[in-house]
Amino acid sequence: MYISTVLGGLSVLSGATLAYASSAVEPSNFNVTAALEDLGIDVAAIPALKSFNGAQARSTDKACAVACSSLSFIFNSKVSAQNTTGYSNFTDSFWSVQQEEVQPHCIFRPTKNTDVSAAVLLSRLTGCEFAARSGGHAAFTGASSSPGGISIWFKDMNAVTLNKDKSVASIEPGNNWLSVYSALQPYGLATIGGRAASIGVGGFVLGGGISYHSNLYGWSCDNVESFEVVAASGLILTVSETSYPDLYWALRGGGNNFGLVTKYNLYTIPAPEMYGGSRTFIQTYFPQAINAFINVANNASVDPHAQQYIAFLRTQGTNLASAELTYTQNVSNPQIFKQYRSIPAVADTSSPKTLVEYVKYLETENPFHLREVYWPVAVKLDEKFSNWVVDTFYSMISQVEDVPGAQPVIIFQAITEPMLKKMSDFGGNALGLDASNGAVQLMHISCWWSNESDDATIYAFVNSFWETVLAEAKSQGIFNEFVYMNYASLYQDPISGYGATNKALLQKIAKKYDPQAVYQTLQPGYFKLDGAPATL
Ligand SMILES: Cc1cc2nc3c(=O)[nH]c(=O)nc-3n(C[C@H](O)[C@H](O)[C@H](O)COP(=O)(O)OP(=O)(O)OC[C@H]3O[C@@H](n4cnc5c(N)ncnc54)[C@H](O)[C@@H]3O)c2cc1C
Ligand SMILES: *[C@@H]1O[C@H](CO)[C@@H](O)[C@H](O)[C@H]1NC(C)=O
Ligand SMILES: *[C@@H]1O[C@H](CO)[C@@H](O)[C@H](O)[C@H]1NC(C)=O
Ligand SMILES: *[C@@H]1O[C@H](CO)[C@@H](O)[C@H](O)[C@H]1NC(C)=O
Ligand SMILES: *[C@@H]1O[C@H](CO)[C@@H](O)[C@H](O)[C@H]1NC(C)=O
Ligand SMILES: *[C@@H]1O[C@H](CO)[C@@H](O)[C@H](O)[C@H]1NC(C)=O
Ligand SMILES: *[C@@H]1O[C@H](CO)[C@@H](O)[C@H](O)[C@H]1NC(C)=O
Repeated sequence: MYISTVLGGLSVLSGATLAYASSAVEPSNFNVTAALEDLGIDVAAIPALKSFNGAQARSTDKACAVACSSLSFIFNSKVSAQNTTGYSNFTDSFWSVQQEEVQPHCIFRPTKNTDVSAAVLLSRLTGCEFAARSGGHAAFTGASSSPGGISIWFKDMNAVTLNKDKSVASIEPGNNWLSVYSALQPYGLATIGGRAASIGVGGFVLGGGISYHSNLYGWSCDNVESFEVVAASGLILTVSETSYPDLYWALRGGGNNFGLVTKYNLYTIPAPEMYGGSRTFIQTYFPQAINAFINVANNASVDPHAQQYIAFLRTQGTNLASAELTYTQNVSNPQIFKQYRSIPAVADTSSPKTLVEYVKYLETENPFHLREVYWPVAVKLDEKFSNWVVDTFYSMISQVEDVPGAQPVIIFQAITEPMLKKMSDFGGNALGLDASNGAVQLMHISCWWSNESDDATIYAFVNSFWETVLAEAKSQGIFNEFVYMNYASLYQDPISGYGATNKALLQKIAKKYDPQAVYQTLQPGYFKLDGAPATL
């Protein structure tokens, strides 16, 4: 039921239930205006719609002027036009500059699930495109902000509540992992979530979600009790292993292609006491560090409390490796990290930390407001190959040494056997990974730089680096086609990386719940079901 909102003496919202809600599948004669009316919106009373003759060609300025004006009329202060602080607060607070440069027609800040339904339906009515943002950590243009369209910002939907027996936390998409862990800490609880403070819940869970706890419990998407989703029809569905199980499977890896999620109901875990930090090594010790990386990854079932990644970079002319070694108990020198800890380190930030302290600490290593790219590949976990990849990286980074502000980094992590085994829980996920071929090595390049004029140089560099690496991986028979959506660049196609069978199934499920392909066409940003966002 709506609490009716009175605007200028005119009540446009009234108590209503969704009359068309008898089936989750949208009928072929679906009437968008009638669906808006079912939400309690008096469509005939919206001035901007009076002179508007049906949906325009997608996202024309006219369509978006009408859509934004209609949203303002209904929702008043939840909408921010250009050149207001509400607008600049949005555009100035992304992680990457590429997303900060996007100029939407307006920003919409819903406060409840039916507000989100109304925005999707108004987009359909007018033809104005939209994008949705949770933490805003996706790096490339248009991923979570709509150029010239409606950018839906979940900021004000930020509740975290526990069910009666505290086994499930209901998390709205305006949260980041710091706000989630901070809300749950007083109860001695946590969830399987991100490793840095400002990462949003929204994108993270839908793309997979690698956590400090993933060797114990699996990835974030494999720890979802249910999702509350706004379907293309505006209908609000509760999706779980037993309710719309096909959609539940699809949301576990399928990204923004199936609906806007208004509640992530995640299983809780006991809040861990943690110990960890990064140990930094000089180049002499790279082979030993890589050997330690491989052993820790292979020992994940023996001691699932350990989590790690190792980054290689050049800083002020010196090649360094930095291993982030995290233990989800307050133990400073567990057996599994002995080998790493025996390598002389030039710096070590290890200390006992709560989970809240840990994500705050990691946040400091990932500055905002730079041009950014993340670009991953996957291979079978392999020590000799890892050494070769690191040597190849250092032999190629001179290509971008003169690019102002460029800081290329290559990072290795393992998708371990215990993580892979958890991926078949609750009917499985859409990622197309399985445990039968052993651990997977996830490698990604992360790079920031200063100037837009260097974008093409950086993208071409990363592309040619991975072409070199993957040609070798293929010749050795260790290539894995998996592309991790949460790290993927605009030139990659994670859905194809899930394999042809999963891709076809995802397309079929999208067609079932969204026959007009609203989430594909009116929300064109990020990774769609039919190819990469851009080509080089
Ligand atoms: C510094 C840093 C650290 C990271 N650490 C980790 C890590 O530890 N583990 C890991 O797995 N990944 C990590 N990532 C990757 C991270 O998971 C992705 O960047 C992820 O997309 C972030 O989600 P977000 O909500 O912040 O992003 P957004 O940019 O807000 O969203 C990404 C996409 O998801 C969509 N989306 C967001 N909310 C919703 C919703 N409610 N319903 C439907 N679609 C939605 C958006 O429309 C957009 O297309 C890290 C990234 C960075 C930059
Ligand atoms: C759609 O619904 C509206 C409002 O109920 C109605 O006025 C209109 O005639 C309907 N359109 C069609 C094509 O049925
Ligand atoms: C916002 O400001 C810019 C620059 O001053 C101007 O070009 C633009 O027209 C303004 N937009 C609106 C909607 O007022
Ligand atoms: C913009 O952000 C500032 C600082 O957080 C805040 O004080 C202000 O209220 C915000 N403005 C709007 C319209 O949300
Ligand atoms: C586990 O780690 C130990 C070192 O701590 C190493 O000797 C052993 O080979 C590792 N096991 C595997 C399977 O890699
Ligand atoms: C971790 O253990 C150390 C030493 O036993 C103790 O001083 C510290 O308070 C503990 N920290 C946390 C966060 O539990
Ligand atoms: C590029 O970056 C450098 C260093 O940050 C700066 O001095 C220069 O003005 C920039 N060039 C352009 C074209 O922006």
